[in-house]
Amino acid sequence: MKQNRVLLIVGGGVAAYKALELTRLLRKAGVAVRPILTAAGARFVTALSLSALAEDMVRTDLFSLGNEAEMGHIALSRSADLIVVAPATADLMAKAAHGLADDLASTTLLATDAPVLMAPAMNVRMWLHPATRRNAQTLQDDGVKFVGPDDGAMACGEHGPGRMAEPQAIFAAVMATLNAPAADLPLNGRHVLVTAGPTAEPIDPVRVLTNRSSGKQGYGIAAALAELGARVTLVSGPTALAAPAGVDRIAVETARQMQAACEGALPADAAVCVAAVSDWRPDAVFAGKLKKGPGGPPAIALVENPDILAGLSAAGPLRPRLVVGFAAETDDLEANAQAKLKRKGCDWIVANSVAGGAVMGGDDNEVIVFDAAGAERWPPADKAEVSRRLAERIAAALTHGDKVR
Ligand code: CTP
Repeated sequence: MKQNRVLLIVGGGVAAYKALELTRLLRKAGVAVRPILTAAGARFVTALSLSALAEDMVRTDLFSLGNEAEMGHIALSRSADLIVVAPATADLMAKAAHGLADDLASTTLLATDAPVLMAPAMNVRMWLHPATRRNAQTLQDDGVKFVGPDDGAMACGEHGPGRMAEPQAIFAAVMATLNAPAADLPLNGRHVLVTAGPTAEPIDPVRVLTNRSSGKQGYGIAAALAELGARVTLVSGPTALAAPAGVDRIAVETARQMQAACEGALPADAAVCVAAVSDWRPDAVFAGKLKKGPGGPPAIALVENPDILAGLSAAGPLRPRLVVGFAAETDDLEANAQAKLKRKGCDWIVANSVAGGAVMGGDDNEVIVFDAAGAERWPPADKAEVSRRLAERIAAALTHGDKVR
């Protein structure tokens, strides 16, 4: 069997140390790794470590005579089955998005005809900056695949999306890309964002304002989309469910965290908002546990939470091509769902009746799908079946461009 060859570009970021572990994992799996270390990358890891783990010479310089004689950068860029950029810094992403070529890494990215997988790593503000959002969209349009970034505490002390995916996750993405049969699934190469579960809004250190959503429908949809080949980011409130196979889950608690995680996950081809987001949150979180007392129960003032679905529907150039919302209603299902479609600016509303309490937390669902063309009533089915049907409808819409603005 032919040996898989990866050209690994290591950019300058604290996460560069993870590239060493990634190299080790790839070598262990029999993949040939040819490393390129940028000047900034060399401030974080040494060429010696990288070369020892890769069992190959590390390229650093565009104009190095020795290396050029052995293999010019054009040949170098064609010598791999896949180019992996880890860490992909904001600077490397910007250069690649704009076709700049002023060093070996950027020149290689411009000259290659191999697929490219980037593992972004940067400060949360840099990741969320409109310039990086635009660059990510451009790169995705150019066919670049992404793994991560993760959400969490970062070396700079801040919290949010921007932390490089773990080596194991990048390794899995590399192997999946190397072994992926070319475009055999309808959602191959598509990124879909799914929100699921309830949100939990803190009242004090021990109490939360939440709802009865189990997350089953949202998780089912995430799984069904992944089965059709999509890269799925599942932004989930607290649930008891395990992340479905092949789905990238970001765990959040509050509506505002869910909103930030969704914004950080863009660009996406489609967004499906299944989460039962708490409409309100306590205006202020009490620092200590509230106690009973002679003063009677505490007054808890509520403020409105951001509407994530409406925000994604109005995300300008970053708006996913297809935005799907859910509507859980106890009364006037049709009228409320139609009104919601307009008010939220989304493309479809999947409406279900939660009257009687059987749907929330249960395994079955009976839905009507509303879009600009009208209403489609689906037969009662379990949530897994509804998920499959919806994933297929999404795949058809993204493929044919119908029913989507
Ligand atoms: N939604 C959201 N963010 C919110 C509230 C709701 O993204 N803050 C999304 C849900 O994920 C769902 C859709 O909006 O896809 C409808 O949610 P629902 O709770 O039925 O609607 P509300 O906006 O809360 O409207 P109402 O309270 O009037 O029923």
